[in-house]
Amino acid sequence: MPVIQKPTDAIVRIHKTTICGTDLHIMRGTVETVAVGRGIGHEGVGFVEQIGSGVTNFNVGDKVLISCITSCGKCAPCKRGHYGQCRDGGWMLGNTIDGCQAEYVRIPHADNSLYIAPTNIDDEALVMLSDILPTGLEVGVLEGRIQPGHTVAVVGAGPVGLAAILVAQFYSPAEIYVIDRDENRLNEAKKMGATKLINNKDNNAVQQVLADTDDIGVDVVIEAIGLPIGWDISESIVAAGGNIAILGVHGHPVTLHLERMWKRNFTMTAGLVHTNSIPMLMKAVATGKVDPRRLISHHFKLSEAKHAYDVFTNAAETNALKVILTNDLSKPTPNPTSA
Ligand SMILES: NC(=O)c1ccc[n+]([C@@H]2O[C@H](COP(=O)([O-])OP(=O)(O)OC[C@H]3O[C@@H](n4cnc5c(N)ncnc54)[C@H](O)[C@@H]3O)[C@@H](O)[C@H]2O)c1
Ligand SMILES: [Zn+2]
Ligand SMILES: [Zn+2]
Repeated sequence: MPVIQKPTDAIVRIHKTTICGTDLHIMRGTVETVAVGRGIGHEGVGFVEQIGSGVTNFNVGDKVLISCITSCGKCAPCKRGHYGQCRDGGWMLGNTIDGCQAEYVRIPHADNSLYIAPTNIDDEALVMLSDILPTGLEVGVLEGRIQPGHTVAVVGAGPVGLAAILVAQFYSPAEIYVIDRDENRLNEAKKMGATKLINNKDNNAVQQVLADTDDIGVDVVIEAIGLPIGWDISESIVAAGGNIAILGVHGHPVTLHLERMWKRNFTMTAGLVHTNSIPMLMKAVATGKVDPRRLISHHFKLSEAKHAYDVFTNAAETNALKVILTNDLSKPTPNPTSA
């Protein structure tokens, strides 16, 4: 049971949480900031159980969305909305402090790191707003500067790549290529708006995309694998003058072929999500502009987390997308949008 450590902390009883591709990187041991024994997970919806004396925006009992990013709201990066770079926060949950795949979690800087759960969005849809929809939008679509008529390639059709495909359509690209080795995920990507499916099981995604674009490549590449192969594909398919937006969490160095790329006027961005798009995404979900429930494939109890990890890790066999873990302590709640 976590305890309040600072007046600005809140303790949240988790209702629903989930597993991220980043947690798989952690389980593989490639995220060096995560100590052995750390409780992981950085997404969830829950109920405020306790508040420190300095918390003013929330009361005990409030249903809240937890941002995967902790932010003070007061430092210079926070003032610019760059919460991921908060001087006293950033990605802490399930990284440098115990996280959300637990019955209770301590949320530092609760006033700026929690959001009241809107009554018109169901709890499981809301969990997709802790991390993956903001990441797809902010680190993928906005950093990649997608414009109407652009050709876009999303490299990796895991839940975050799929989320990027959903929100890329806010900007009306002409084509969305999606690259993966998992046929099920490619088919899901098509249902969510991808127009060209590239199966990389024979490691020839680059040749397929170049053949389909008259050797030009695509205007915007969103890298959503988080392995060196994701970078290798991205730099080979970006058009001259295009942008590569890296949202993968990388644990290994990659090779930038500057001898080939120096003359191509491309840009590359990489970074943490800030989750400053959460309020806007809440409105887009509430009005039906985007339906995050499509990203959910499986449901487990929190006490079945080990099995849930197996299912999410072996997505090609299990057809897993996002897996929802419901706290064994939770009572069933009515689903407002299906009523
Ligand atoms: N920047 C951020 O703030 C941020 C936030 C959330 C997640 N992430 C990262 O985003 C990435 C995606 O997350 P996810 O939850 O979708 O992960 P995931 O592991 O479920 O998805 C990765 C996908 O890449 C595919 N893939 C693997 N090797 C491939 C290859 N050689 N060719 C083609 N496809 C291949 C897999 O089949 C899988 O579908 C991860 O690296 C995660 O850590 C970053
Ligand atoms: Zn994540
Ligand atoms: Zn800050």
